[in-house]
Amino acid sequence: MLVHILLLALIAQVKTTSICDRKLCVCWVKNVQNEDYQGENVQCSYADADILQSNYELPDIVNSLDLSSNKIEKVQSSALLDSTTLIELLLHDNAITTIEINSFQLPELKRLDLSGNLLDHIHREVFRDLTKLEYLNLANNRFTTFTKMNFHHLSNLNDVILDNNNIGPSLKGTNLFDRSGSGLTNKIKSLSISGINLNTVPDNFFVDAYDISTLIISNNNISDVFEIPFTLKHLDLSDNPIRDISGEDFTDLIALQELNLDNLLIKEVPDYIFEHLPSLRKLTLERNNNLVNFSKLAFGRDVLDDPAEFKLERLSLKGSRLTRLDEALAVPLGELTELDLQGNPWKCDCNFVWVKTLQLSDQSTQHLRCDKPTPLFNAKVFDLHEKYFTCEIRHRGFEIAIVVICATLGIVAMWVFLCLPTRKTGCGFLKNMYGPSTAYSVLPMAASFHNDVER
Ligand SMILES: *[C@@H]1O[C@H](CO)[C@@H](O)[C@H](O)[C@H]1NC(C)=O
Ligand SMILES: *[C@@H]1O[C@H](CO)[C@@H](O)[C@H](O)[C@H]1NC(C)=O
Repeated sequence: MLVHILLLALIAQVKTTSICDRKLCVCWVKNVQNEDYQGENVQCSYADADILQSNYELPDIVNSLDLSSNKIEKVQSSALLDSTTLIELLLHDNAITTIEINSFQLPELKRLDLSGNLLDHIHREVFRDLTKLEYLNLANNRFTTFTKMNFHHLSNLNDVILDNNNIGPSLKGTNLFDRSGSGLTNKIKSLSISGINLNTVPDNFFVDAYDISTLIISNNNISDVFEIPFTLKHLDLSDNPIRDISGEDFTDLIALQELNLDNLLIKEVPDYIFEHLPSLRKLTLERNNNLVNFSKLAFGRDVLDDPAEFKLERLSLKGSRLTRLDEALAVPLGELTELDLQGNPWKCDCNFVWVKTLQLSDQSTQHLRCDKPTPLFNAKVFDLHEKYFTCEIRHRGFEIAIVVICATLGIVAMWVFLCLPTRKTGCGFLKNMYGPSTAYSVLPMAASFHNDVER
């Protein structure tokens, strides 16, 4: 009898082995203030591909479960995916091709990361019970059409990452926010669609996204700036073949705080382009390989005299093709807490020396170097004494003037030497030389006048 009971207890124990007893898993209580996260964190990365099929159980109160990098191919119902306390589930970097309906018994789940898998569809019932889900990451999967993602009914979803799925072509015909079924809800606050092969953003694309504040649409094939939702606080347009940007593209974006314009095909930053962005705090224009002109009026005229008007805090122009920057910008740029001008082919002449008055951190002066003039090539701007920042053109002009004066004096001296009356033989030589030519008839006449006087 006793043996029986012991055996039963043993079986029961085996059945309810906690995941925390596994050697490959780590459980700990994160010490965070946030009350939402007062539970255990379970980390089971690099454990095994069959971890969902085993009988492990979660601790009673668990907040975060990390099952990433386990080579899991199929998500199925499992004791590990049955919890009323789990808030975050990480399944990224597995080899998931299928998620079975009813796999997720996680009514409190807010964050789900399925990035880096092999998913090309998700059945519409899969997320049925995840009514509290706020964050969903499906980046780096194999989706080719948005309609196979099926998460419209996730009514609390506000942060979605769909990067590097080839869904751009399918977006021509479907609106991302189409309420008829598969689209995103209009509660979306943050959307990342980087690297999805999007060629154009259709008109009214964001018309139903009333509350969107972050849009990352970098690394696509967009050549024209589209109608930007005015609610945006953070916009990333980097790595697109955009040739021109104009003030009209960025008017009325009164909430925009951060704008990222790296690696575009723009040649210039024109007048007034950033003038109507009252909330802008961070602007990056890095790696713009065609950018040669940065207008002194890019931020408008007022900021040139009144630094109080200039609200930007961080600006990076790193790795572009700028050779000069107007000294008029000294006042606003002097206000920045962070400025990076490195990696541009600066022309270190008298028009650039003002840059040395800027207060820049050591990290942002290391690669702030001269390209021209040739003798200063690769010199660090902040190590170079001001006296070297000279203006070649003025210098050359002076040299040319000296040469011209000397030459003139020389000619006059020669004329005096050769043509004074006492030296008529010399002038006779001139006469012989120019005599036969009708074009120079004046000279022989003058010469013959001399001869007449002689007679
Ligand atoms: C990118 O867009 C241009 C037109 O804007 C088009 O000609 C080209 O084929 C597109 N490239 C790809 C890879 O879709
Ligand atoms: C850059 O500005 C200069 C004068 O300010 C102008 O002559 C030149 O055409 C501009 N280049 C580009 C590419 O806009």
